[in-house]
Amino acid sequence: MSTFLLFEQCSAQNKIAIATDKAKDTISRNIYGHFAEHLGRCIYGGFYVGENNKTIPNKNGIRLDVVAALKKLKIPVLRWPGGCFADNYHWKDAVGPKKNRKQIENVSWGNKREDNSFGTNEFLQLCEMMNAEPYLAVNVGGGTVQEAAEWVQYVNHANGTSYLTDIRHQSGRTKPWNVKYWGVGNESWDCGGHMTVDYYINEYKKYATFMTSYSNTEGLFRIAVGPGTEDFNWTEALMRNIPLRMLDGVSIHHYSVIDWNKKGHSSLFNEAQYFKTIKQAYRMESMVAGNCAVMDKYDPGKKVALVVDEWGGWYESQVNVKGDILFQQNTMRDAMIAGLTLNIFNNHADRVRMANLAQCVNVLQSVILTKEEKMILTPTYHVMEMYNVHQDAVLLPITLTKEKYVFGGDSVDAVNASASKDKNGMMHISLVNVDASKPQTVKINLGGGVYNSVTGKVLKSAQLQDCNTFENPDVVKPKEFTGAKFSGNEIELNLPPFSVVVLEVK
Ligand code: AHR
Repeated sequence: MSTFLLFEQCSAQNKIAIATDKAKDTISRNIYGHFAEHLGRCIYGGFYVGENNKTIPNKNGIRLDVVAALKKLKIPVLRWPGGCFADNYHWKDAVGPKKNRKQIENVSWGNKREDNSFGTNEFLQLCEMMNAEPYLAVNVGGGTVQEAAEWVQYVNHANGTSYLTDIRHQSGRTKPWNVKYWGVGNESWDCGGHMTVDYYINEYKKYATFMTSYSNTEGLFRIAVGPGTEDFNWTEALMRNIPLRMLDGVSIHHYSVIDWNKKGHSSLFNEAQYFKTIKQAYRMESMVAGNCAVMDKYDPGKKVALVVDEWGGWYESQVNVKGDILFQQNTMRDAMIAGLTLNIFNNHADRVRMANLAQCVNVLQSVILTKEEKMILTPTYHVMEMYNVHQDAVLLPITLTKEKYVFGGDSVDAVNASASKDKNGMMHISLVNVDASKPQTVKINLGGGVYNSVTGKVLKSAQLQDCNTFENPDVVKPKEFTGAKFSGNEIELNLPPFSVVVLEVK
């Protein structure tokens, strides 16, 4: 056998062609958004420790270490207060002097007492501290249209226009926050009220009408609840029955879960479980493509955004501390989910214009974990930081000829990628090799243009199960990548097994 044939058999070859001449869509920075719910230790302990806390540095109770780390990540938008909790939330319970706030039972998550010390003002202050846009989810399941309309007035209307803005003024905040993004309910087919789509559509139209003026002169971005599976009939009904002038976004949810009855441990897993998770993560492509196809039919001008406002890996909860609901570790498996999902979103930038990882701190696939005064950054944090070069850059469409990662008689694409060009003319290419054991060779054809320097970062580790812990916070962190070499207008590189690489080409 010739040496050439031997090489062909041992090393997996993938080819990427970048269509630099077909660049047209901008990758919205909001694809890199996050989600924070009153669930477990996401808000209390994660973002907020109370203004009387003397051991954890804070401003009005908001953790400064968490804010600094998230600012570095450049998080563009944060969704709140749920999730399922949103459809139980009455915003008026949580404004004004803290001693007067209504204490409620969090019936969505663990029946814990919720003292409402973190409410609208605190959330919007948090967003200002992080330079992130707020995205509020209104209560459709257990609330009223009036309550939602009044929430809009409380946060957005000019001072002095009603008793609501007087309350805001008395709370110490005179100028409006001008919140643009509003979700109308959450998972209305499930925890948000088990509604049929036709029932939801009527509810949506009522809310969307009364939350703003008839012609929406305020420019609210109203997001309707879309499906959480490949139920494209739900999306079709929304698109057919809601006038497009009343609809700015359709939200979908997709979690990479092996089996809802047997989710498996977050850091103790075998390759079979890993493979199943990755297969579930790749399902995002059909979820997005299927919804885009339906939306294109009714909205060829792409006015309405597809908003993936919950996504991520979901494993068994590791309840070490009381109240740690949906707390899980975050390993290289999660880095793979993050890298491949963000590539899918980038490649659908024409329609996917917001996404929110579930959830930001201490819940599900978090970028940050906290334990009292300690804070660690997860592998997912590092992927999101490596990828933030794509924010607001122009998508460069790619064609990918890819090898397979084969396991147990089944297979998925071994490599996935996306590319963009930023306002300084810098090209960034993000690549993921999900194969658990095989390196993958990739040849990238850069098309036209003259490029003469390529640098990069890589996130890799010895074991798929590797994660950062409070004792060892830097087990997984990005390193410089020097393995990319030019050959004419092509770049050739070797992606290590289960790794994420982001290249910068100029
Ligand atoms: O993110 C956790 C939960 O998952 C959310 O509250 C809900 O919307 C979804 O089912």
